[in-house]
Amino acid sequence: MELTNRHILLGVTGGVAAYKVAQYARELQRRGATVQVAMTEAATRFVGPVTFQALTGRQVYTDQWDSSVPNNMAHIELSRQADAIVIAPATADFLAKLANGLADDLLSTLCIARNCPLLVAPAMNREMWANPATQRNVARLIEDGIVMLGPDEGDQACGETGVGRMLEPEDLVEDTIAFFAPKALAGKQVLITAGPTFEPIDPVRGITNLSSGKMGFAIARACRQAGAQVSLIAGPTALPTPRAVRRIDVTTARQMFDAVQAALAAPVRTDIFIAVAAVADWRVANASDSKLKKTAGGQPPALQFAENPDILASVAARADAPYCVGFAAESEDLERNGQDKRRRKAVPLLVANIGHATFGRDDNELLLIDEDGSTKLSRDRKDALAARLAQEIARRLPPSD
Ligand code: C5P
Repeated sequence: MELTNRHILLGVTGGVAAYKVAQYARELQRRGATVQVAMTEAATRFVGPVTFQALTGRQVYTDQWDSSVPNNMAHIELSRQADAIVIAPATADFLAKLANGLADDLLSTLCIARNCPLLVAPAMNREMWANPATQRNVARLIEDGIVMLGPDEGDQACGETGVGRMLEPEDLVEDTIAFFAPKALAGKQVLITAGPTFEPIDPVRGITNLSSGKMGFAIARACRQAGAQVSLIAGPTALPTPRAVRRIDVTTARQMFDAVQAALAAPVRTDIFIAVAAVADWRVANASDSKLKKTAGGQPPALQFAENPDILASVAARADAPYCVGFAAESEDLERNGQDKRRRKAVPLLVANIGHATFGRDDNELLLIDEDGSTKLSRDRKDALAARLAQEIARRLPPSD
């Protein structure tokens, strides 16, 4: 998992967004992290320490003078065990303390005594965020190498709208994973197709497939976490857009083809193309502009099919082709058929799904096939597999000029 062996000291300060941080703590653990919570006294007014204690299975520290900690040196003990400290929510007051090196309670003392990275997720009213003092403090924190997670823009608990709200827990998790992820794709431009396509029969009917888009979206997320700029061309799916990924929605294979060509024509060169979409091989050539009607005793419609363009093969055939990665769902003799498909499409790397029951699931098992043979990525969550795949792609990239 992406956060296995990571120990995170989670500092909760006194903002209403503290209630969302319980969910964040839970998600961090689900990704393999261990979480130790420390709270300011004000934070305990919003959420009881028992909540975090129950979620993390660890004692929650709130008091600088806690005599149950060995040597009564909680600030050193707790911060020395952590791979990172994350403060969420971080109030304007706490940011001010951090910026000025104050240490008048347990959490601020932990921060100043740390020898690990510090990440902060600000949460406050928009006027408090825009206040020159807060902005000055934030600039100072960034200068000091402290990582800012957000804030986000939108509705605020006080009823106003603007910049200052805490990132949603799932975005905080993504940014935390991104912080730890090796930046193997730093500076790379990645283009990904994902999901199914939908080929109309008439204005209300069509032909599609069971692809959920989960694997392609997970790869988009993982590439961004590995430092890449990512564009994601998605067929019809209700999945949320991964953080900081540019998404273009399409419906048909031909629209997907056009969107890919347009992305490749952009002034910024695409370094890597990953074709994860389950593109329909055929479209209905005689699709009707009006809804087909069933008439009593009438004949069912006779659909004619035309072949769709092979997006991956067309990209791989370009003189300026990016590094191309294809996907395959083969049922028999995975390695031989995969190797044949890789050569046929003229791509350096083909990723075969092991078993075909992967559609819609959250886990998968992959076989990576390149000119040297094959490597298996054993069964795991799709997002963990995607992170491993991003590293495997990075390792295979030709040296850049
Ligand atoms: O030929 P097949 O559909 O098995 O190949 C699968 C690979 O080719 C996937 O990477 C898929 O995204 C890509 N593909 C494509 N355009 C098509 C058909 C498949 O890009 N029309």
